[in-house]
Amino acid sequence: MTEIDGQFDGPEEVRASLEATGYLVDEGLAVACFLALRLARPIFCEGDAGVGKTALAAALAEALGAPLIRLQCHEGIDASQALYDWDFPRQLLHLRAAEAAGITDADRLESELYDRRFLVARPLLRALETRPSVLLVDEIDRADDEFEAFLLELLSEYAVTIPELGTLRAEVPPVVVLTSNRTREVHDALKRRCLYHWFEHPGFGRELAIVRRRLPGVSERLAAQVTALVQALRGQDLVKPPGVAETIDWAQALDALGASEVDAELAVSTLGSVLKYREDVERGRGLDFAAVLSGAMEVP
Ligand SMILES: Nc1ncnc2c1ncn2[C@@H]1O[C@H](COP(=O)(O)OP(=O)(O)O)[C@@H](O)[C@H]1O
Ligand SMILES: [Mg+2]
Repeated sequence: MTEIDGQFDGPEEVRASLEATGYLVDEGLAVACFLALRLARPIFCEGDAGVGKTALAAALAEALGAPLIRLQCHEGIDASQALYDWDFPRQLLHLRAAEAAGITDADRLESELYDRRFLVARPLLRALETRPSVLLVDEIDRADDEFEAFLLELLSEYAVTIPELGTLRAEVPPVVVLTSNRTREVHDALKRRCLYHWFEHPGFGRELAIVRRRLPGVSERLAAQVTALVQALRGQDLVKPPGVAETIDWAQALDALGASEVDAELAVSTLGSVLKYREDVERGRGLDFAAVLSGAMEVP
């Protein structure tokens, strides 16, 4: 057992530690996190944007007292951006200095140039070298197949071979959180390596609790109304259903306007905080705001 996999006795402890950081999980996610830690498997988080996938990694890092190392994926990302690169300007400076000192032994110079101190560690290598750490591989669906295969290899061994230096292996494998917004399917092989968790939009009670937790200064009534509205908007067959992030943004925007509660007119005029597509704004306007709001009034 390493310092990380023995830190929690069960899912309930994981839930409580995450909650202490302000991140609220349901039982399914608490179990998934506990198992990921106990079995030292990456956790693969998939779901719509804004449902708390990235925030989970940050919360886990805080709960474990380990640094969060983040790799943001994008189209065309490759090993030199993700793993390591040689620091060419520094190598050149070293060569010049050696030249000035009259050192001409080519073999010696070359071996000096490929020393660890001239290696720039990118997030994946940093995570292997930092003990313990939480590695967030964010939005893997944006990277291409080739990078996925490369990542799979790294996650099977927690080691990398650098031709000039040899194999570097993590003494303690990092806790790995992979996220995907599912803009494309990620290969089965990578998913098989991981524990999988599908992130649903939270139900009313948990979402309200999240908003209250993130925005303690906002009136409870406003928080409940906004949460009820967002929950109703998600049922409107939107191009991009709002995530928890948008619920928080909306409540914050209304609070910034000095509102301690919201009516249909104010809700419609601030819809841009929560719906980001023209078609969605059109559809959102079709919601019976007054009816949703009168329902939310019954919430204490
Ligand atoms: N379960 C949760 N507990 C607390 N805050 C949450 C939760 N889920 C989402 N949030 C909030 O919503 C914001 C957006 O979540 P994020 O992790 O960026 O979504 P995703 O990565 O799924 O797109 C976070 O910054 C966080 O404040
Ligand atoms: Mg994210």
